[in-house]
Amino acid sequence: MSRFRSVIAGIGSYLPEKILTNKDLASMVDTSDEWIKQRTGIKQRHIAAKGETTADLGTKAANAALKAAGLEAGDMDLIILATATPDLTFPATATLIQANIGMVRGFAFDLNAVCSGFIYALATADSFIARGQARNALVIGAETFSRILDWEDRTTCVLFGDGAGAVVLTGEPGAPGMGERGIIHSYLRSDGRFSDLLYVDGGPSKTQTVGHLRMSGNQVFRHAITNISGSIAKVLDDTGLTVTDVDWFVPHQANQRILEGVSRRLGIPEGRVITTVAEHGNTSAASIPLAMDVAAKDGRIKTGDLVLIEALGGGFTWGAALVRM
Ligand code: UT7
Repeated sequence: MSRFRSVIAGIGSYLPEKILTNKDLASMVDTSDEWIKQRTGIKQRHIAAKGETTADLGTKAANAALKAAGLEAGDMDLIILATATPDLTFPATATLIQANIGMVRGFAFDLNAVCSGFIYALATADSFIARGQARNALVIGAETFSRILDWEDRTTCVLFGDGAGAVVLTGEPGAPGMGERGIIHSYLRSDGRFSDLLYVDGGPSKTQTVGHLRMSGNQVFRHAITNISGSIAKVLDDTGLTVTDVDWFVPHQANQRILEGVSRRLGIPEGRVITTVAEHGNTSAASIPLAMDVAAKDGRIKTGDLVLIEALGGGFTWGAALVRM
């Protein structure tokens, strides 16, 4: 069977119009702009409008990515939506996006790995493309975390925002090589023993409610730095590449202090880390494609650049991937 490599042909994103600043939050809970900036680096986050859903955000990001790729919905064989905030318990929100963009072929499904969702979805789509089961795929990260936050809990409600990012992957003949465009390697991990450190306390089977996000922030923080550093070392080790070969690090945007902690540990220069956490907050599965889109649009990430992405999220789930743009 022939082998294909998955090339990122286009990136797109969408952020809801409404911006919630730290100052706004300080009038809602006992917090301050100073505390939030100092502990997280976050200045503001976007919040979906009433009635605006994850499918709406994902559809806009998907259409933008299709436009950037110069392809149409009818060219797509597959949609994988990474989300922990689906519109409904079922059907999969990916199928709602499939209908919204006018794609009447192929298949679409949701994938839930919370903040690591985009890396899981990218690796999954890459497997379908590598085996020739899909030629073109939309990989979307879209979230409306504002709907699962406890707006009276200052330890969590200041951290998250809503948004969506998407990439179009297209199969090119040949296995991935170091110099060619495409997904070079990915590494995925999970460890369910830590599920009670970051979870939502509701769901259809257990409580028949949607529930609210609960997090032991301090402990997640420590695991994040260790596990993310480990997965970056693993993808570099597996491919024989080093930190100096990487042009851009596009981390999951959870906390500026986590980004700095990981960079210090691995010797990644600050100038090569793409950060959007100040403007977007933590948008979970959407954060990496959102940050990639920002850096592609402002001219930092260019065709041929080697990009390393990484994330850790509830589960725990975590992982990293290397992509030649
Ligand atoms: O994307 C998924 C992965 N998630 C993450 O990676 C998040 C990881 N965790 C974090 O980013 C950080 O742990 C937080 C930003 C959540 C918290 O920062 P921290 O430095 O770990 O603070 P802390 O939880 O140890 O809390 C320090 C103090 C506490 O007060 P006391 O007990 O020392 O009196 C908190 O009650 O800060 C207090 N605090 C706040 N104060 C003002 C917690 N939240 C707030 C707040 N405003 N919003």
